Amino acid sequence: MLIGVPAETTAGETRVAVTPETVKKLVASGHAIRVQSGAGIAASVTDAAYEAAGAEIVNMNAAFAADMVLKVRTPTDAETALMKPGTVVIGMLNPFDAAGLQRLASAGLTAFALEAAPRTTRAQSMDVLSSQANIAGYKAVMIAADKYQRFFPMLMTAAGTVKAARVVILGVGVAGLQAIATAKRLGAVIEASDVRPSVKEQIESLGGKFIEVSYDTDEEKEAAVGVGGYARPMPASWLARQQVEVAKRVALADIVISTALIPGRAAPTLITEDMVKAMKPGSVIVDIAAGKGPEGVGGNCPLSEADKTVVKHGVTIVGETNLPALVAADASALYARNVLDFLKLIVTKEGALKIDLEDDIVAACRVAQDGQVTKK
Ligand code: NAI
Repeated sequence: MLIGVPAETTAGETRVAVTPETVKKLVASGHAIRVQSGAGIAASVTDAAYEAAGAEIVNMNAAFAADMVLKVRTPTDAETALMKPGTVVIGMLNPFDAAGLQRLASAGLTAFALEAAPRTTRAQSMDVLSSQANIAGYKAVMIAADKYQRFFPMLMTAAGTVKAARVVILGVGVAGLQAIATAKRLGAVIEASDVRPSVKEQIESLGGKFIEVSYDTDEEKEAAVGVGGYARPMPASWLARQQVEVAKRVALADIVISTALIPGRAAPTLITEDMVKAMKPGSVIVDIAAGKGPEGVGGNCPLSEADKTVVKHGVTIVGETNLPALVAADASALYARNVLDFLKLIVTKEGALKIDLEDDIVAACRVAQDGQVTKK
């Protein structure tokens, strides 16, 4: 099969959908790989490295003129126009963006959105949300440590003792867990909140403390179980109690890293303006949910601004929306392996396309085919 890999054109996108390692494997399986010149540069991969792995270096039009196109981000209008009907396109295609999916369907593309894979053991090796959220959690702590004008670890020096930073993590999915692990390695004292009580043990095993909020009604208990591993919106009664507990911790915190998301919905507001006002000057918030707040404003904190770092009430609020792109080489390496593993589900050993809708991962990821939006 002829597989094209264009350079990403979304502003700030540094990742690439294949690495020399995955190109080598695809070539060994009998595929012809065309990589757009410069596609890997921002992720520290040269054209020469792709060529050495067996790819042909081409221009943009040639990269899109393939049987299958591997992308990081969903194709723009201009990119969509470069693909012929029937092209298979694989990437992070925003399965909740109905208009975007319609555009892919109308262009006659067969599209697979890898974010839609179920959170099952079999799907783990192709789970792009996990591979990228893990990086986001790590980088959020790195950025916080950079912006924060004090140490993370407790230090006893001849010039006096420095206290350890207090870090509060809101939302303990994949990103939150990595943020806890990373902040812990730097010596911080960590507290964390999530709607799902099942994360308590995971937080504790990483050396953090779970912020307890009681579940008082059947409705609260049921919502906290979530669905398919994901959070569901919690009843207002529980959120109000959570806010009281979180507000106490945030007021004492030096760093807050918020990662709380509910798939297909606005990110919950967890750090109100009053809570920011109560924080110490010089504190830092890294809002991984920036740009995903109610009506697209803010994130878990309404004061965060997408892709900007702002100082509000003496608190630095980082609203970087694409943290994995700031770790471009490793983010690409992991993403490229996710893509390669997914390909094994839709391409036979002989190299032919075979879309088996009996396979739950294939069926979940298929978002467009034969002119129709097929999202489940
Ligand atoms: P996510 O990115 O959708 O959300 C991040 C976190 O925010 C979640 O833990 C969620 O419970 C939390 N959250 C939502 N509303 C909140 C609120 N009001 N207050 C505090 N926290 C709130 O989650 P992610 O990282 O995609 O993980 C989702 C689940 O999938 C997790 O349970 C994870 O362990 C599971 N998972 C399972 C895998 C597998 O079995 N193969 C692979 C990867 C993840």
